[in-house]
Amino acid sequence: MDLKEVAAREAVKYVEDGMVVGLGSGSTAKIAIKLIGEMVQAGVKIVGIPTSKESEDIGRSAGIPIGELKARSVIDLTIDGADEVDPALNLVKGLGGALVREKIVATATNLEIIIVDESKLVDFLGQKVPLPVEIVKFSHEATIHLLEQLGCRCLLRTRHGERFVSDNGNYIVDCKFAKIDDPTRLETDVNLIPGVVDSGLFLGLADKVIVAKKGGIEILEKESVLRPRSTSRAP
Ligand code: A5P
Repeated sequence: MDLKEVAAREAVKYVEDGMVVGLGSGSTAKIAIKLIGEMVQAGVKIVGIPTSKESEDIGRSAGIPIGELKARSVIDLTIDGADEVDPALNLVKGLGGALVREKIVATATNLEIIIVDESKLVDFLGQKVPLPVEIVKFSHEATIHLLEQLGCRCLLRTRHGERFVSDNGNYIVDCKFAKIDDPTRLETDVNLIPGVVDSGLFLGLADKVIVAKKGGIEILEKESVLRPRSTSRAP
């Protein structure tokens, strides 16, 4: 079995009847959504909250009832992928372009489970991949110039020769840092730049990381400094 599927199969064991479940984006999360769809077909009642148009489409095709995140909605569990996971379970996400919705959903989630294969584990963030940053189209060159002042090389993302446009109608800039030494400071610095919507830094949001390795599954857990969370309520 593919390592991504191994991780996804482990993660869906946490899905229980009656839950509100965040549906992640990317190839690993897609496998989890399909597995959750099989559970729904078998009679498990859940509501899915998608993190992208694609995950919504996959969820609907799999027969998962789709809900919306409202003012005081709480998501019991979200299963999502990641591009990098550091030893403190901080993440880089967004190579698939869904980082803004993924972060909104993760922030409203009680138990954020990240599913990866071992290739995603890094010693420090920025080791293997650039940091995706979503920016508004207006005057994007000025925003990119300010991002570059933070010490990275920026590349406006394209797909099939065209500028990539996110589900929110914005551009994504891939910012390659030699090393992200202080992710908390960088997150603040990036988000203070006018025109930035959000970055793919997910700091303190992952509660559990399920890592599928050739030798078996490893589950990494956040130390119990948990975000204040409330009780579940269907959106
Ligand atoms: C989507 O925007 C991303 O954050 C994905 O979660 C991430 O890129 C992982 O995707 P894969 O599971 O396809 O590697």
